[in-house]
Amino acid sequence: HYDATPYLPARGGLPALRRAASACRGCPLFRDATQTVFGRGPARARLMLVGEQPGDREDVQGEPFVGPAGQLLRRALDEAGLDGEEAYLTNVVKHFKFTPAPRGKRRIHQAPSLREMTACRPWLARELRLVAPEVLVVLGATAGKALLGPSFRVGEQRGVLLPMPALDGEEPGTAAAGQLLATVHPSAVLRADDREAAFAGLVADLSVAATVLE
Ligand code: URA
Repeated sequence: HYDATPYLPARGGLPALRRAASACRGCPLFRDATQTVFGRGPARARLMLVGEQPGDREDVQGEPFVGPAGQLLRRALDEAGLDGEEAYLTNVVKHFKFTPAPRGKRRIHQAPSLREMTACRPWLARELRLVAPEVLVVLGATAGKALLGPSFRVGEQRGVLLPMPALDGEEPGTAAAGQLLATVHPSAVLRADDREAAFAGLVADLSVAATVLE
C-alpha cells in the first residue's frame, strides 16, 4: 500500500512540510530519484500552479519547473501579466519517475501511476491548505485527473474558472475558498506541431486566471 500520510508532520508550515517531504518513502519512486522536489514559492501566494511531476532538470536541482517546460511556463505567465516569482509552483508527484538513459543522456520521463499519484496527494492537499491560493492553475491532463477525477478532459475544461475541489484528508465542505483553472501542460506546448498556437492557448488560459488576481 503506497501512502505518504505517515510522513506528514502533525503541525507546522511549509518549511516543516518541505523538510518532512525530503524523507518521504510513501511509494517506491524515492529509490531511483535524486531527491524530493517539493513546491516552491511564497507561503501566501495568491496563485498556485501544479504540474505532473519533476523532470530531469528538476530532479537534479531539487526545484520545480527549472527545466525547458518551466522556462516556457515562465514566459507564458509573463505574457499573461502574471509574476512567476509571486506564484507557488508544485507538482502532483514529488519524485521524478523515468526510464534510465545511457550515461550523460537526458532521462526520459515516465507517467506516474494512479497509485503513485494517490500516495503523493497528502503533500499537495497540505500545500493547498497552507498556501490557500485564490487561484490554482492545473497544468495538463494528469494533474487535472489527480485533482478533478478520472473524467477530467483538458480539451473540454481548460480556460474556465471552476470551484476548488476538496482533497483527501479534508472534511467534506472544507475545500479551500479559491477557484481552479485547468490548462495544457507546458511540456505539451513544447511537443505541439504548432507550438506558437499552443503557446498562445496557454497564455489565453493563464490570462483568465489573471483576471481573478487583478
Ligand atoms: N514538468 C512538471 O510537471 N513539473 C515540473 O516541475 C517540471 C516539468
